[in-house]
Amino acid sequence: MRTETPQPIRLSDYRPFPFEIETTQLSFQLAPSATRVTATLKVRRTGAAGEALALNGERLALKSIAIDGQALSANQYALDDERLVIAEVPDAFELTTQVEIDPSANKALMGLYMSGGRFCTQCEAEGFRTITFFPDRPDVLSRYTVRIEADATFEHLLSNGNLMEAGELEGGRHYAVWNDPFPKPAYLFALVAGRLDVLEDSFVTMSGRTVALKVFVDPGQASRAAYALDALKRSMKWDEEAFGREYDLDLFMIVAVRDFNFGAMENKGLNIFNSSLLLAEPETATDFDYERIESVVAHEYFHNWTGNRITCRDWFQLCLKEGLTVFRDQSFSADMRGAAVQRIKDVKALRARQFAEDAGPLAHAVRPSSYLKIDNFYTATIYEKGAEIIRMLKTILGADAFRAGLDLYFERHDGEATTVEAFIACFAEASGRDLTSFFAWYEQAGTPAVSLTHAYDAAAQALSITLTQKTAPTSGQPVKKALPIPVTIGLLAQDGRPLRDSEVVLLEGESLTVRWEGVAEAPVISALRGFSAPVTLTTDARSADAYVLFAADPDLFNRWEAGQGLARGLILARAAGTPDEVGEERYAQALGQALDDPAADPAFKALLLALPTEGDLALAVEPADPAAIHEARGALRARIAVHLGEQLARIHGAMQGDGEFSPDAASAGRRALRNACVDLLSADPHADNVQRIVGHFEAAAALTDAMGGLSALLAVGGEPCETALAAFHAKWRHEPLVLDKWFSVQARDPSDNALKRVLALTEHADFDAGNPNRFRALVQGFASANPARFHDASGAGYRFLADQILAVDGFNPMTAARLVEPLGGWRRYVPALGDLMRRELERVQAAPGLSKNVLELATRALE
Ligand code: ARG
Ligand code: ZN
Repeated sequence: MRTETPQPIRLSDYRPFPFEIETTQLSFQLAPSATRVTATLKVRRTGAAGEALALNGERLALKSIAIDGQALSANQYALDDERLVIAEVPDAFELTTQVEIDPSANKALMGLYMSGGRFCTQCEAEGFRTITFFPDRPDVLSRYTVRIEADATFEHLLSNGNLMEAGELEGGRHYAVWNDPFPKPAYLFALVAGRLDVLEDSFVTMSGRTVALKVFVDPGQASRAAYALDALKRSMKWDEEAFGREYDLDLFMIVAVRDFNFGAMENKGLNIFNSSLLLAEPETATDFDYERIESVVAHEYFHNWTGNRITCRDWFQLCLKEGLTVFRDQSFSADMRGAAVQRIKDVKALRARQFAEDAGPLAHAVRPSSYLKIDNFYTATIYEKGAEIIRMLKTILGADAFRAGLDLYFERHDGEATTVEAFIACFAEASGRDLTSFFAWYEQAGTPAVSLTHAYDAAAQALSITLTQKTAPTSGQPVKKALPIPVTIGLLAQDGRPLRDSEVVLLEGESLTVRWEGVAEAPVISALRGFSAPVTLTTDARSADAYVLFAADPDLFNRWEAGQGLARGLILARAAGTPDEVGEERYAQALGQALDDPAADPAFKALLLALPTEGDLALAVEPADPAAIHEARGALRARIAVHLGEQLARIHGAMQGDGEFSPDAASAGRRALRNACVDLLSADPHADNVQRIVGHFEAAAALTDAMGGLSALLAVGGEPCETALAAFHAKWRHEPLVLDKWFSVQARDPSDNALKRVLALTEHADFDAGNPNRFRALVQGFASANPARFHDASGAGYRFLADQILAVDGFNPMTAARLVEPLGGWRRYVPALGDLMRRELERVQAAPGLSKNVLELATRALE
């Protein structure tokens, strides 16, 4: 039962920790249900004399406590559920504590827990305090030595840094001692113990040092780690070339675990990954998985400089490491896989997750100013919008000044825990520019709406462009400032010839008019090229202009964007009861022409074929009616499928792989296009198309094709669909990662049978709410990726989600909290739905024994 209202933590309350922990010695006696942790901290006072030593500690059974070898008596310290406070301590001393913990009972998967019979840890953000008493805050950096002792059946004993010593002990036990020479905050601590297979390699750094690379996985799975290892080597090389960053230890390890709350974790020298983001073989991983593995391996590796060598002063600065590291991994992926396609995918993800967040009550600044649980702020805003801010900085300053600023940051702050202010100051100094107004991007929530109008004066050959911005209020921020917004603009002629190259126009203040001379003919304006800022753009362009861009914009992002804009307009018109049939035919025809362009990359064409998602469309109208959107989108899909049927079938045949699987971008692009064709053909399910889809599914050698076929069969429904689902389950029921996909594809069932199917799946023998991957595949898959069925008029979808939140909150609050967001948008929906959503949120909020995590989000969602 909650007894008091939890108090928020505020940025403005930041105070440095009044002690320094020079060294931290940890000794683990591992046993699944009773692990002993002895910690010896070398402490020195840095703050005012007389200040008490307060350490975090939760769910720890204290066994002994001593200062400089002298046991403390019970009246010398105070202990509650969250803290250990020793009122009087010397100025320099050694504190030794011993605690007992129960990893096998840890189903929250934070701190030390068991997964697949192995010990593993997750400490970011505040998990370390469930392992031992410690100042668990990112600005306390310490040098760690870790001794691990366990039964020899826990074959590998791993921690951060370098292996110093290892050996056998009596009674079938063994030990290992690790030392990490780099001072680090507690959230980067890691420990793994258990039976694992290892895939090894090495990397020679730019200064000629050899680094041993080891990837540890479940026994028998080593071959599945080859792609991740290859991605790691490419990341290491790329970071040297692109940013001059070299790896600093002689050993780099990655471990895959099956039960993990998020994607992966950048622990110093010992990254821990969700196995879904590490293991890949053609039959068990899709191209999207390969792509994600490549980018997440890079992301965690890049954290070694942006996060580990330079970390955050406090958790309000989370974007300092996350936004910057996402920017770095996106740049890496762009170099590996092609800039335009990568940019389109990144923007799709930004819109789907961050724009939705910004549009609802959970909107928050990239650097928030208060929180209840920091875990709730590992959001798309902090990660993805954080990355967009860095990208804008680069656009505004230019590549050279940007690099100079980043070099200065690495030089000045290496070894520190610092702030966003200190980061931006480096760029201001290196470029000589005043970035004061730019800082508002970190502090202001909400997506700016930019509008563009133009006037062309043929006689003067002059074009004037007016840009205006406005950001709607968000909760807690009623008044918004104007932000500096870089808008990249180029011009085309009406026949598609390029008229004028891209130029960055910086919109500062509410409105700006630029006048361009020497524009010889009435142009088509291509604005916000490459999505130069995270804003929504409306323009006074006619749809004829959008068709010019769709056919010919040399900026491929905007070419794609023009098609999306046209489709969005057509779907929304239909959803509003005013279909534009002529426009729809014209669109289908233009799409057909784009598909025939021999110069265009198949991966790009696949993106052209995907209509804006239902979620994306729901953001464009208020109030949103998911059923109307679903129907209208389906109608446009059907029209395209009918209009382009032969062409889609022809392309589907032509993109057939020629034997050997390769995960490279070109091969993946061909598969993406094949599967995009199959997806559209399912919207016109006549016998030939159904046969083609069934054939596609049955002949699939790679999982990408199998999943593409299965998903299309769900759209078709009926007997072919059920047969395929059963066959897929029979084939893969012993492969957890593949089985996750069997659950998630059914969660996205577009038919009105979806909720029944999902409910039945929660009773399935293979469903396991304790495993975050399995749970999210089904529940998140339904709530986030199946809007039409989640928003069922009866409210049954909402009830299902609320029930799941409450069930999982009992043991894994972090995973439960992530499910609140789909209900958070209740104000944007038609009142009949919005009311039902709100009621479920209220039910969640009122539930007894709710975690702080869920309480914070449910409360904010209702504000
Ligand atoms: N730092 C990790 C990463 O992005 C994620 C840690 C997630 N932790 C959390 N409490 N949500 O690479
Ligand atoms: Zn990260």
